[in-house]
Amino acid sequence: MHFIKNIRWTLFFLIVAVSIGAYSILVAYPPSKGKQGRAKAVASEPISAAEELNAVALYSMTCAACHGQRLEGGVGPSLVGIGSRIPPTKIERIAQRGKGKNKPVSMPPGLATPEEARLLARWLAAGPKLAMDAPETGQAK
Ligand code: HEC
Repeated sequence: MHFIKNIRWTLFFLIVAVSIGAYSILVAYPPSKGKQGRAKAVASEPISAAEELNAVALYSMTCAACHGQRLEGGVGPSLVGIGSRIPPTKIERIAQRGKGKNKPVSMPPGLATPEEARLLARWLAAGPKLAMDAPETGQAK
């Protein structure tokens, strides 16, 4: 019986390891990028589940400090509905180059790599929901 139990655990850990590996590959190389190559941001391009996870993580690490965990704004303006105010190519550019450098409060350049900026732009333009849908943060707005 011990033997069978050990095999089960080994299998279990193998499956977990393989899933984590597959997930990181998906996050690093989202399938849609294959088709698009390094094309410009395409707002209409649907966001895959892996890309969405990646974008949420990126946003909360790089942008949320100023724009709020739920896009509600803070030091920076609210990004709720930003997709209907400015085009994704512009969001992409701001994410890379910053904004308002002569203003008292500005957004610094170089926060995101070109790839990250493109992903964030597509995600923001699509009207992100995931961060707000997390069970701890409650209702979407
Ligand atoms: C250090 C604080 C800070 C961080 C971090 C930051 N921003 Fe900003 N952001 C600002 C400020 C301040 C402005 C307003 C600049 C101005 O007045 O022109 C702004 C403006 C913007 C705008 C334009 C909003 C509008 O209504 O025109 C976008 C889009 C934006 N930020 C996206 C992002 C993204 C995406 C990230 C993460 C990669 C990010 N920001 C990280 C401070 C920040």
